[in-house]
Amino acid sequence: MTVLVTGGAGYIGSHTVRALVEAGESVVVVDNLSTGFSAFLPEAVPLFIGDAGDENLVEGVIAQHRVESIIHFAGSVVVPDSMRDPLGYYRNNTMTTRSLLNVAVRASISRFIFSSTAAVYGNPEQVPVPEHVPTRPLSPYGSSKLMTEIMLHDVASAHGMSYVVLRFFNVAGADPQARMGLATNGATHLLKIAVEAATGQRAKIDVFGTDYPTPDGSCIRDFIHVTDLAEAHRAALSYLRGGGNSVTLNCGYGRGYSVLEAIEAVRRVSGRNFAVQYAPRRPGDIMTMVADTSRIRATLDWTPQYDDLETIARHALAWEEKLVRERQAEIQHAASA
Ligand SMILES: NC(=O)c1ccc[n+]([C@@H]2O[C@H](COP(=O)([O-])OP(=O)(O)OC[C@H]3O[C@@H](n4cnc5c(N)ncnc54)[C@H](O)[C@@H]3O)[C@@H](O)[C@H]2O)c1
Repeated sequence: MTVLVTGGAGYIGSHTVRALVEAGESVVVVDNLSTGFSAFLPEAVPLFIGDAGDENLVEGVIAQHRVESIIHFAGSVVVPDSMRDPLGYYRNNTMTTRSLLNVAVRASISRFIFSSTAAVYGNPEQVPVPEHVPTRPLSPYGSSKLMTEIMLHDVASAHGMSYVVLRFFNVAGADPQARMGLATNGATHLLKIAVEAATGQRAKIDVFGTDYPTPDGSCIRDFIHVTDLAEAHRAALSYLRGGGNSVTLNCGYGRGYSVLEAIEAVRRVSGRNFAVQYAPRRPGDIMTMVADTSRIRATLDWTPQYDDLETIARHALAWEEKLVRERQAEIQHAASA
């Protein structure tokens, strides 16, 4: 009874692999390491380096490890990149999942958990946003994920598969023991950028738009700690194993913090007063994005442990400081070699 995690060497995938292993699950990972890191995986977890859309590879892994469930993280995640390269995003998100589902159907996989995103909502009519509102993505990234949701729904109905679609809001923070975190170069996550500024890796942080009709004029987001999100995946798996029906669930805390509040939290926990530059609004930015979390709380046995902006900022900072120390040690090692 093994769980296949695609993209398990990435930011969210690696936290989920860790949560599953700590809960006693047998896990196998397929990841092409395009943005992931093999070092994020516990040693005992087999890693197959390859594409989640490679049907021969995945079919072999499923047979060899007697996989019964799939948690699918593999994909491309940067919204502005998807504007520049839409076909690349439809290929790596939508088409890769089509191939993965093709294998899953052939192998009679009965449970599938998919990483979707709040980007499927576009500019929501209602905030906090519930799952049933119309989806109107504003980027190829959001569209590629929505297309995948539709495809998964159709495949599950036709082939007796059960699924949970988790629509992540703003994922942030790092493993509380700093074993994994966000390490991708050029990551666009606000808290990541803020901790890079706090550790002296950036001269300043830009805030796009301070004239929104919000309490402090900046945009509002629902930040969820990556460890709580990992636990939501473990809970989703238990839910499906317990016979739960296919369902789509928002993954956030249901509480919004402004961009300026998030920056202040990083300043407070770091004790460093890095520069903030106010810039005009960016086209396409959504003013307020906060999850209605009633459905996930009613459906899954899931109690968030880190629902606190300062804790999220502290864990993100501790991870970033570790990355900086490791990079400095590498430079010193290279210099002395
Ligand atoms: N980070 C967020 O805030 C956020 C928000 C909403 C949704 N998501 C979704 O969560 C998932 C994981 O995101 P993340 O933040 O951990 O990103 P990430 O880039 O750290 O992880 C993606 C992982 O998938 C791997 N990968 C990419 N394409 C692959 C392919 N074709 N075959 C095999 N492996 C492949 C990468 O090497 C990486 O390890 C993505 O599907 C993303 O769309 C993330």
